[in-house]
Amino acid sequence: MFLATNAGPFELREVSLAADGLPSLRVLHISDVHFAPGQRNKAAFLRELAQTSPDLVVNTGDNLGHKRSINPLLDAIEPLLGFPGVFVNGSNDYFAPKLKNPARYLLGPSKQDSEPSTLDTERMTREFEGAGWQNLNNRSASIRLGDAEVSFAGLDDPHIGRDEPATLEKKSAQIGVVHAPYLKSLKALTTTGAELLFAGHTHGGQLCLPGGKALVTNCDLPTAQASGLSEYGGAKLHVSAGMGCSIYAPLRLFCPPSATLVSVN
Ligand SMILES: [Fe+2]
Repeated sequence: MFLATNAGPFELREVSLAADGLPSLRVLHISDVHFAPGQRNKAAFLRELAQTSPDLVVNTGDNLGHKRSINPLLDAIEPLLGFPGVFVNGSNDYFAPKLKNPARYLLGPSKQDSEPSTLDTERMTREFEGAGWQNLNNRSASIRLGDAEVSFAGLDDPHIGRDEPATLEKKSAQIGVVHAPYLKSLKALTTTGAELLFAGHTHGGQLCLPGGKALVTNCDLPTAQASGLSEYGGAKLHVSAGMGCSIYAPLRLFCPPSATLVSVN
């Protein structure tokens, strides 16, 4: 049985895919860090990920997980900020978690609290942008990676209704990024022309059956696509199983926390 808490152990997964319109790229996909003070193993793993020397870091959100997590998070993620990167936010980048019945996770998509943000979202955004990472929350951007210009479109988190798909231009992007892979958001991203989509949020199911079979995705994505590579609407979809979980549901079953190195072409 594989049982992990927020303390790890952590895995670096590696997958490869072909995408006609994209140059060769090594993409480090991180997601759902849900950082809380004292998570030394997670911090060490995050820092070690810089040794993969990716061409691009894609961060699909839920970095924060505690009202005092901003400083240790920024410290742990600092080596990765030295690489080109893009990011979108997840609900846990806006709202600190609250104590809930952990079984609620298995009963359907979680509801988000509507209280004002208790997290330093602004500072996280400022530091990511200051390091050169492109903010893709309801935005498009392009980045020069080697000899190629790569274009992106992204959405803020649809799990809490912050997505604004009308802001996305049609046929404007090669890569689409969103935190929660709701089908409507994946569809909106494919209208930009994106042939590669990145998302997180599912925690790979978080509480899985032996073999890693997910029971829930915490959204309307089919459980068969809860983590790893699959396809949506003619695009390749990579859903990260994520590196953490809420401090109030600190258990992952048959689904170790992970980051993924995605080799394109
Ligand atoms: Fe998450």
